Amino acid sequence: MKPVKVGICGLGTVGGGTFNVLKRNAEEIARRAGRGIEVAQIALRSQNPHCDITGTATSSDVFAVASNPEIDIVIELIGGYTIARDLVLQAIDNGKHVVTANKALIAVHGNEIFARARAKGVIVAFEAAVAGGIPVIKAIREGLSANRINWVAGIINGTGNFILTEMREKGRTFPDVLAEAQALGYAEADPTFDVEGIDAAHKLTILASIAFGIPLQFDKAYTEGITRLTTADVNYAEALGYRIKHLGVARSTAEGIELRVHPTLIPADRLIANVNGVMNAVMVNGDAVGSTLYYGAGAGMEPTASAVVADLVDVVRAMTSDPENRVPHLAFQPDSLSAHPILPIEACESAYYLRIQAKDHPGVLAQVASILSERGINIESIMQKEAEEQDGLVPIILLTHRVVERRIDDAIAALEALEGVNDKVVRIRVEQLS
Ligand code: HSE
Repeated sequence: MKPVKVGICGLGTVGGGTFNVLKRNAEEIARRAGRGIEVAQIALRSQNPHCDITGTATSSDVFAVASNPEIDIVIELIGGYTIARDLVLQAIDNGKHVVTANKALIAVHGNEIFARARAKGVIVAFEAAVAGGIPVIKAIREGLSANRINWVAGIINGTGNFILTEMREKGRTFPDVLAEAQALGYAEADPTFDVEGIDAAHKLTILASIAFGIPLQFDKAYTEGITRLTTADVNYAEALGYRIKHLGVARSTAEGIELRVHPTLIPADRLIANVNGVMNAVMVNGDAVGSTLYYGAGAGMEPTASAVVADLVDVVRAMTSDPENRVPHLAFQPDSLSAHPILPIEACESAYYLRIQAKDHPGVLAQVASILSERGINIESIMQKEAEEQDGLVPIILLTHRVVERRIDDAIAALEALEGVNDKVVRIRVEQLS
């Protein structure tokens, strides 16, 4: 059988890795796919020093790949929302299948892209968009298709996890670690996407859609970054038996779907609390299977290429199949997607870590306790440290039981209004993931 011809758009970190893996493992890949996979054209802005592309046709125009009549599958690895969207839509309109690693594109424009792909009978595959080399899309979409998924929780941004790990283990500063992540090729072009949780929210949006059978709704995700985390809170969390991770949580409740990315205290003995450095991990809890955990490299040249090439093999196997019988893009049949709403953060429920900087006066602790009890907030544990020398303030650290967020918002407003409380109250959500 003649090889399938593919075009790679973008020869950066992931594009270069994809080219190299396709070349190095060509025979193994052909044995799996049933046909060879040949790179017929590469659109690139500059050479990648890690790739020898001698003999492969190139172009500086990505749209030349989308309109190349020889090409069956377009691999979009340029990133971003604008040119990438035009490129993917043009490739689809030209009847080409698409493989992409672009989480922003899928999270923001996926509904439109999948509708267009269905109309044209082509596949858009996006395993590499979430958690790099970990085949978590395939696991949820196919491996767990018997289950009603209860929740998904993941460390899905390698840069953020690398920063938190280095800060905790080595006491390094935030900008120092971020610069290293950028040099290693993990960070987004705009690193605020990593540290403010936007990249994780893109990935969580995709995970939630395939877990719960809902349309992609990135604009409704709650996103809170790690830039305001302090060493003091990292250390207090440790003392309470927790680690702070930047977690994406999607949970199905009777009222709606929680979709939130924020720093989170996790019990230190959970496997996921011990996922360090640039590694990613996703927990998925299903009603039949219970909790499952998927771990691996969430970014980087060849780990991400591993997912891109796996998608290519899937597309090659399914190209000749009846479009109606393919695995649906979002796991559920498109006419069976649910309208279950995404909940605003005030309606989400979790436990909370609160740090209150209080004046060292009699009665302040009693006032704190009564504000919480008046609002039905149950305290699980409380720790008061000695006064800090510089300001004479006493940190009161407490953990609550689970409660709906709007009650904590109300309690924090009342706490901050107390004469004995200085400064903003620090609030970090807590998840047991049990
Ligand atoms: N910036 C992302 C990360 C790359 O750090 O995880 C992979 O999506």
